[in-house]
Amino acid sequence: MPLKRLSVTAVRNLHPVTIFPSPRINILSGANGSGKTSLLEAVHILGLARSFRSTRLQPVIQYEQNACTVFAEIERPSVPLCSMGITRNKQADYEIRVNGQNVKSTAQLAETLPLQLINPDSFRLLEGAPKQRRQYLDWGVFHVEHRFLPAWQRLQKSLKQRNSLLRRGRIERSMLSPWETELVAAGEQIDLFRREYISQLKPVFEAVLSELLRLDGLSLSYYRGWDKERSLAEVLDSQFDRDLSIGHTQSGPQRADLRLRIQGLNAAEVLSRGQQKLVVCALKLAQGRMLKEFGRQQDCVFLVDDLPSELDQNHRQALCSLLESLDCQVFITCVEPEPLLNCWKKETPLSMFHVEHGHIVQTE
Ligand SMILES: Nc1ncnc2c1ncn2[C@@H]1O[C@H](COP(=O)(O)OP(=O)(O)OP(=O)(O)O)[C@@H](O)[C@H]1O
Ligand SMILES: [Mg+2]
Repeated sequence: MPLKRLSVTAVRNLHPVTIFPSPRINILSGANGSGKTSLLEAVHILGLARSFRSTRLQPVIQYEQNACTVFAEIERPSVPLCSMGITRNKQADYEIRVNGQNVKSTAQLAETLPLQLINPDSFRLLEGAPKQRRQYLDWGVFHVEHRFLPAWQRLQKSLKQRNSLLRRGRIERSMLSPWETELVAAGEQIDLFRREYISQLKPVFEAVLSELLRLDGLSLSYYRGWDKERSLAEVLDSQFDRDLSIGHTQSGPQRADLRLRIQGLNAAEVLSRGQQKLVVCALKLAQGRMLKEFGRQQDCVFLVDDLPSELDQNHRQALCSLLESLDCQVFITCVEPEPLLNCWKKETPLSMFHVEHGHIVQTE
């Protein structure tokens, strides 16, 4: 689902710009601070209504402007060109339009434009909090299983209600029942979706990883967030007193995690920084490959910020070959384009952009 046309207004230092990217490989080069990451950020805002650099949108909006806008035309197989746009202002409101219609939910953006980001912070997926790995996992489940989103919304709502009652303290056990019934139903369903997804992802991940680096004995496993021998209802029941004393629900799908281990140890504590980055790339590329093969036959757009950093020439080449083999649109930033110029097959469509002081010029 490549972006055919991309227009960006008032994102960081970028001057208002429209570019016509290649459906495959796009390389953005330029000096530090020129605006390369800002362009990726703009695409990210279009797909997810938020930045990947800051939790608030205010720092992303150009100084002295009140709102930023990102608009794109997207090519999809066998349907007319799709247009989507988002405007966000400093008060954190947003206005989203897809094919000329106002849209309320950001989920529709994500569905229309599946994105994968690989950046210098990506290794944090391994060493960071479980939340990041859950988000990674749920990205995949969301895109292949349309029943996931309603189940997830039910889970959030019932969990919030149960937690707020627990925080009140001095409650009857029975007061939790309606919310627990809902929580258990949604939670068991989410666990099932996640398990199914992981079982399909694992072989794809292992295949991608083996193309990217030699690493024996790395295992990927899923922890569902509660004892695997007991039902969620039993666990909630047996942990009621503790939940009440700490004021929230300790076990459930909101505590799920992915575990990457090597030789029985946590991969984040053993692998080098470059190796961690490559493992994360393999996880993300595997999701891209799966989306195409098992999902709704969609493509995702890859945003790769600062690709050359921390990767040696062979691994860089392996990563480029994998990105190329996915047959989807890729935006790659780098300071110097030279190391990335000969990494592609001649027939692969490639466009080059030079970024300077917020101006973007297509050079090839
Ligand atoms: N809200 C804003 N309004 C205007 N300019 C901003 C704003 N926020 C950041 N900037 C500036 O925008 C520029 C773009 O930064 P960006 O991170 O996109 O650069 P980059 O090309 O990715 O650089 P690097 O190679 O160092 O990663 C920086 O010079 C930064 O100071
Ligand atoms: Mg940058």
